[in-house]
Amino acid sequence: MKIKSIRGVKDILPEEIDKWQWVEKKAHEIFSLYGFKEIRVPIFENTKLFQRGIGDTSDIVQKEMYTFEDKGGEQITLRPEGTAGVVRSYVEHKLYNPPSLLKVFYIGPMFRYERPQAGRFRQFYQIGVEAMGSSNPSVDAEVMTMLMDFFSNLGLKDLCLEINSLGCPDCRPQHREVLKNAIREQLDLLCGNCNERYERNPLRVLDCKNETCSSIAKTLPKTAEHLCEICSDNFQRVQNFLTDVSVPWRLNPILVRGLDYYGRTAFEVKSSSLGAQDAICGGGRYDHLVEEFEGPATPCFGFALGLERLISLVPFDQMESIERNPDLYLVCLGEMAQTRGFKLASELRQSGIFVDRDAEGASMKSQMRKADKSKARFALILGENEIQSGKFVLKSMADGNQDEIDLSKDYIEILKKHLKPQTVPETTHG
Ligand code: HAM
Repeated sequence: MKIKSIRGVKDILPEEIDKWQWVEKKAHEIFSLYGFKEIRVPIFENTKLFQRGIGDTSDIVQKEMYTFEDKGGEQITLRPEGTAGVVRSYVEHKLYNPPSLLKVFYIGPMFRYERPQAGRFRQFYQIGVEAMGSSNPSVDAEVMTMLMDFFSNLGLKDLCLEINSLGCPDCRPQHREVLKNAIREQLDLLCGNCNERYERNPLRVLDCKNETCSSIAKTLPKTAEHLCEICSDNFQRVQNFLTDVSVPWRLNPILVRGLDYYGRTAFEVKSSSLGAQDAICGGGRYDHLVEEFEGPATPCFGFALGLERLISLVPFDQMESIERNPDLYLVCLGEMAQTRGFKLASELRQSGIFVDRDAEGASMKSQMRKADKSKARFALILGENEIQSGKFVLKSMADGNQDEIDLSKDYIEILKKHLKPQTVPETTHG
């Protein structure tokens, strides 16, 4: 029976993995300069976590979650995003004790039942960041600076950081009222989706991709026009901090986010090279989510970026190859040599030498061809004669030069000398 992968998911094959690992390594490097540490939380959680966390009225909760009942009768959801799980973990493990700013990041797959298209998948990877425990606008600016720093370290250009403020529970109701009144007059012109949103979450009308809706959205009252004094001052300070460190940004007054937990600063990073799915990253401030899950009042700021979209943009011209070719290819001729070679390969690997070998016991010619294909620097040849004499042949794949290695001596050290100048790591075990 032939089974194919599910629509909207993709395999990341060995030939692409270097790029993924390099980007992830860069994330570790840059984020650690800002004091962020990795956190790993489960891929599935209780469904209620996302319903409450992301919001019942969001598209994600309404239409996009992979939810099922497990064998114990519990409602489980494959995480559509990472923030809710991190907040759950924060509360569960009392990470607010002792009080300080917790700075974490995560890398992993997320799941959304969306209509697949270029740059949009049903399983996709995110790198997410959460700074938990400060409402200071310098934290908003610092996290966005770190993100832009990360992007420029990857060689990305022509990205646009768009920011907006969504206000707080004090000023948002007023904006919502004004917005609903303005939308009501134009409901007939708006798409079916926006008619639904008008009832559930009118803010999302500002964000509709439909052409008519988005031109109407430009005329609707903006959040930034209805901010209370504290939110307004806060937003101004975020802008000042970004400008202070020369991070270019642009005000997008109709930027709203697809998840309900945001307030005050919201942002997205877009690329003109991405087509319809142009958001490479999104995030913002969420000051009330920890309380929602019975933790102490903990203002937070974070973001997540889509790794597939990011990787499609990275030039990779600065990527130093992290692929390592074998130091040695073991060519074993005959049954006895195969047995001896199996043990020898293990000994050599224990001492940090990268050994590849042929398990099939093919002819000399075929094994040498495989050695060549593996890009090994040397072939170590073992036949019945070599086993009898205790002396193996080490052949350079580059120039064909041969040396004899005496197995009765300290052959690992002798081999290591031959393997220089390419460095071989020191023994880690054995
Ligand atoms: P989000 O905007 O839903 O935010 O997702 C962040 C990024 O994930 C998007 O900008 C996009 O690059 C990528 N992404 C989302 N859906 C897909 C998809 N179906 N296929 C491919 N890529 C996708 C969040 O997830 C929030 N949790 C971010 C956050 C963290 N806010 C605060 N902390």
